[in-house]
Amino acid sequence: RILIIDYGSQYSQLIARRVREAGVFCEMYPYDIDTSRIEEFGAKGVILSGGPESVHDENSPKINQALFDLNVPILGICYGMQAMADHFGGKVQASDVHEFGAATIEITGSSTLLDGIEDEKQENSRLHVWMSHGDKVVEAPQGFEVVASTPSCPIAVMVNEDKKYYGLQFHPEVTHTLQGDVLLSRFVHQICDCAGSWTPDNIIDMRVEQLKEQIGDKQVLLGLSGGVDSSVVAALLHKAIGDQLTCVFVDNGLLRLHEGDQVMQVFAENMGVKVVRVDAEDCFLTALAGESEPEAKRKIIGKTFIDVFSDAARDISQGSDGKPVEFLAQGTIYPDVIESAKSHQGKAHVIKSHHNVGGLPDDLQFELVEPLRDLFKDEVRKLGIALGLPHKMIYRHPFPGPGLGVRILGEVKKEYADILRQADAIFMQELEKSGWYEKTAQAFAVFTPVKSVGVVGDGRRYAWVIALRAVETIDFMTARFAHLPYDLIETVSNRIMNEIADVSRVTYDVSSKPPATIEWE
Ligand code: XMP
Repeated sequence: RILIIDYGSQYSQLIARRVREAGVFCEMYPYDIDTSRIEEFGAKGVILSGGPESVHDENSPKINQALFDLNVPILGICYGMQAMADHFGGKVQASDVHEFGAATIEITGSSTLLDGIEDEKQENSRLHVWMSHGDKVVEAPQGFEVVASTPSCPIAVMVNEDKKYYGLQFHPEVTHTLQGDVLLSRFVHQICDCAGSWTPDNIIDMRVEQLKEQIGDKQVLLGLSGGVDSSVVAALLHKAIGDQLTCVFVDNGLLRLHEGDQVMQVFAENMGVKVVRVDAEDCFLTALAGESEPEAKRKIIGKTFIDVFSDAARDISQGSDGKPVEFLAQGTIYPDVIESAKSHQGKAHVIKSHHNVGGLPDDLQFELVEPLRDLFKDEVRKLGIALGLPHKMIYRHPFPGPGLGVRILGEVKKEYADILRQADAIFMQELEKSGWYEKTAQAFAVFTPVKSVGVVGDGRRYAWVIALRAVETIDFMTARFAHLPYDLIETVSNRIMNEIADVSRVTYDVSSKPPATIEWE
């Protein structure tokens, strides 16, 4: 396993992802992690991330001596390299000017890290890399040899082969560094001697053992939403503890067409998981009646969910056979853990609120089970596939917690939800058929409480307007409306208007985020 020390670079998480992709387990901790935890971790190698600071700043983070005392290979990236140079008496030149972007380094010396890795060869081998730094090392410390350079950065790579210390001024973790994955793989496999055993099947075996040990013969409760994370937790727990797991699936009446039935089919019928389906449609629709303000609707849905879930949990936790439920399972994943650790400066770990069935009443006290806490989303997906969950469920577009509640503009009514479900299903079918489902990050229909005139045969139709929304995005923070082919939009629009009598018009949303958001509410 590899220990990654985070000095605050925007790319730090990518380092962890690349190492995991190389089949090696790693964890990332803030630079001020306790010495005892460094020692306990059992690292076979350490990677020091980049960071925004300058080693010349008074309070800039230093490298904990305990990391060197581990006597394992160390790879310093950007700030990590500068801090390592500074630690061993090299010279770092402060600079206000930022070098940012693609660069080509020339390899001028031999090293275990770079030998045989090249993008092109002129006189020497060259690598196309991504630079993003202000300061740079201008004098390598004693014992280090300079093995690569660029015209503006003479010390692009420095190595101390005796100690197995390596410093890179560029970022191997970003894909713009073409051989970055090869280089990181070389570091973790050859130099640190880590086996590539971090595979879905191995992860499942290890997790199952850990869960058995943690839970013993106790009972576990899980709120199953049908989303990727809770689904994978359900499958994993079922494999580990079978019938000791009870899932609660709350059907709030704001789900997509047949969604509740599909969740029941996959888990209860096919896998034999104990799932209690709580039909709470009336409860949610009654609570929402008369409310049209989006944030108020979100709050009502959130609160109703807690109430319904708590009631079910209370019933179940009393235990039918006299065994109370002691554990609550959650689908917390690694990015949530890293983000909350960052926002608390590494001091506390708090579970992101949307992952937490927060606000459970005091009389319901559970110990948490979070088997995905150290996994990235793509790893969770691979686990899901390896556990036999349907591809469609695992690679589904994200669906907001409040569901159709925020896709029916204004007041929510069952009549509207039924129309929207049908329109949305038609849109999804056509996206899948045309191959566009996978090319968009999120797509859905929106019910607008607007009536418009249409003509059917010789008659007039005065009915609702449905909007279609499809976006391309990586991080959901910014998004571009998907440039769907007109033919596809036409097919969807015709089907919706022909198959749903209550819809007289279909529009396509051409807004990007910002300034619009992805959802309409
Ligand atoms: P917006 O509409 O803010 O959405 O551009 C960004 C992403 O977040 C999802 N979303 C939500 N997810 N509860 C959720 O669990 C919510 O209240 C909520 N609102 C938006 C949205 O679907 C998109 O993926």
